[in-house]
Amino acid sequence: MQTSELDHPLARHKLSLLRDRGTPVILFRALTEELGLMLAVEATRNLPTGPTMVETPLEQITSQTLSGGDPVLVPVLRAGLGLVPSFLKLMPTAKVGHIGLYREHGSLVPVPYYRNLPAGLADRKLYVLDPMLATGGSASEAIRQVKEAGAVDITFVCVIAAPEGIARMRKDHPDVRIVAGAVDRQLNEDGYILPGLGDAGDRTFGTM
Ligand code: PRP
Ligand code: URA
Repeated sequence: MQTSELDHPLARHKLSLLRDRGTPVILFRALTEELGLMLAVEATRNLPTGPTMVETPLEQITSQTLSGGDPVLVPVLRAGLGLVPSFLKLMPTAKVGHIGLYREHGSLVPVPYYRNLPAGLADRKLYVLDPMLATGGSASEAIRQVKEAGAVDITFVCVIAAPEGIARMRKDHPDVRIVAGAVDRQLNEDGYILPGLGDAGDRTFGTM
């Protein structure tokens, strides 16, 4: 399994602002969307293209357009919703499914509460979106669910990953590619990422 980390000055700059505890909700959402665009570009590097004839004002050329079915985006509720607008901006015809999970306080085990996935997953590239990969429990469960629904070609996209979460994904889903904005140092005893950015869902929706 391949893990890519954004290596770009704009990503580092925006991540610093996102991490800052003083960043207000409105800016937090805007930064998530901006980082989401960079993550979307990186995550979709492998979309297939095929030849097409184009007549420019000067000559006719063989150019490339996307081939294959529309991709599928699956945000993990709640925080994954913050990454959807960026992916839809670049792929406006993508289908969007939803998986609802929350981490139980104490055990940190993900509890499923919602699932709505489009049909035809086997033939489409699928992107699971969640800003945080901490213990990896939620990502692993979300991917188990999309595989159960037929998905085969899966990329997991996050803003911040912990080494513990990457290791869990390697063990549970070695076939899934991970694209992360940054890989942080470690988890604390409560399962939060250090240095991280705190609770992504609360900071996105102002429920602190
Ligand atoms: C957060 C985050 C991930 C999960 C990551 O969600 O958005 O889904 O924690 O942690 P893990 O890797 O240890 O499973 P949370 O459960 O807080 O729900 P929320 O998005 O509704 O706030
Ligand atoms: N979920 C979050 O939102 N933040 C963390 O640091 C870990 C899990």
